[in-house]
Amino acid sequence: MSKQIILNAFELNGAMHNSHGLWKHPQNQRHRGYKDLDYWIQLAKLLEKGKFDAVFFADVLGIYDVYQKSKAPSIRDGLQVPLNDPALLVSAMASVTEHLSFAVTVSTTYEAPFSNARRFSTLDHLTKGRIAWNVVTSYLPNAARNFGLQDMIKHDERYKIADEYLDVSYKLWESSWEDGAIIEDREAHTLVDPEKVHEINHEGTYFKVEGPHLSEPSIQRTPVIYQAGTSESGREFAAKHAECIFVGGPTPERIRFYAHDIRKRAETHGRNPENIKILSFLNVIVAETTEAAEEKYKEYNNLWSPNAAKAQYGASGYDLAEYEELDPALPFEYTKATEGGHYKAATLTKDSAKKLTVGDALNRFETIDRNSYIVGNPREVADAIQYQFEVSGVDGFNLNHLVTPYDLEAFIDLVVPVLQERGLYKKEYANGTLREKLFPQGVSVLPDDHPGAKCRLPLPVNQE
Ligand SMILES: Cc1cc2nc3c(=O)[nH]c(=O)nc-3n(C[C@H](O)[C@H](O)[C@H](O)COP(=O)(O)O)c2cc1C
Repeated sequence: MSKQIILNAFELNGAMHNSHGLWKHPQNQRHRGYKDLDYWIQLAKLLEKGKFDAVFFADVLGIYDVYQKSKAPSIRDGLQVPLNDPALLVSAMASVTEHLSFAVTVSTTYEAPFSNARRFSTLDHLTKGRIAWNVVTSYLPNAARNFGLQDMIKHDERYKIADEYLDVSYKLWESSWEDGAIIEDREAHTLVDPEKVHEINHEGTYFKVEGPHLSEPSIQRTPVIYQAGTSESGREFAAKHAECIFVGGPTPERIRFYAHDIRKRAETHGRNPENIKILSFLNVIVAETTEAAEEKYKEYNNLWSPNAAKAQYGASGYDLAEYEELDPALPFEYTKATEGGHYKAATLTKDSAKKLTVGDALNRFETIDRNSYIVGNPREVADAIQYQFEVSGVDGFNLNHLVTPYDLEAFIDLVVPVLQERGLYKKEYANGTLREKLFPQGVSVLPDDHPGAKCRLPLPVNQE
């Protein structure tokens, strides 16, 4: 069978995600519905009907406050605020689905690894192995101040912390509890064999954790590790730890470059690049006919909020309000480094298909960026997806949706059948955990070449 597209729905447990100003659309249910469990239950059922591999929950720990040095532009349009905790949705959504998986974002900069490891073990137990962790290092200055810091920890140091954080997590998941620790020996009055439960005694630069892990091992032990980041340190981190990696870029060729670079780096960490799946963004506006899709695009554009889009760009650490003061004919460039996310910053410079002036760059935020959207009838959309899939060499996509659940319904009703007809998308789910579904050649736990697997306890001599 030829390679099939892995598909995630890009989500957030909040009023608005990446669809700036579209809360005003009459079909939009999310800014009211997100507080209601039934909204998420219906969404889970819808995504499973569409054979989505996973719902990918983004998350942030503060308000975007770089643009205009103010929180108001974000708050006004509900840009990722109000925002609830994504992990708390998973049990309910898992209880009405059988195969849909859940990738939950948690930052390594602000939360303790001990409690995070327990959260993911719990979710992996309750979902029977349908859990992934999207590891992020956080880019918002307000998040730093919410967790007691005056300034953000520096970009590259955040990745060093993340590296040790993962090391602690692997020790808790992989080496704290031996298989078979639960013995239920009634005669010996012993439920758990204390000899098989171990402290981890981690003492590093950033963390000191005694252990043992409080949860017994779940079916995947370590959740599937997701990551996104195109900076040098981000790619290095991804190549070492991640099993699913998001790469962005203006063209399939640029995405191909990042995918190739990460796979090569993974080899230097002793990993088989086949054990990594690369995903990119997918932005679609689809309708029955080309004309209706163009109409939809226009309708959405009329509701678009340029200010919320500029506020979101603040993730880069750059305040576009400063550029609004400049001559629009000047070349768009950065004159100072920031501690924000490099990925966003690169979209206007090194990842841009052409060199931009200040005017060009600011214009990008005025409308829904047509260059990054596929707009068309089902066949046109499927053609463009197929082209991106084949030329970029990615394994799948994170599907953005502007009006929710309206656009997801349209995608599932109109595009999914065409992709299935072409053999590009599954008609039935495979069995097993998320890791087994993603890597049919493997098993539910980490593959042996993954750094987390190195933390596994050696088998007792008589079991080798
Ligand atoms: C698809 C995708 C999803 C992301 N989700 C989140 C998220 O939920 N929370 C977050 O803080 N950062 C998120 N990020 C940002 C990345 O984790 C990372 O911080 C950013 O790409 C900058 O990393 P870099 O400086 O290594 O390029 C996401 C990025 C991408 C491409």
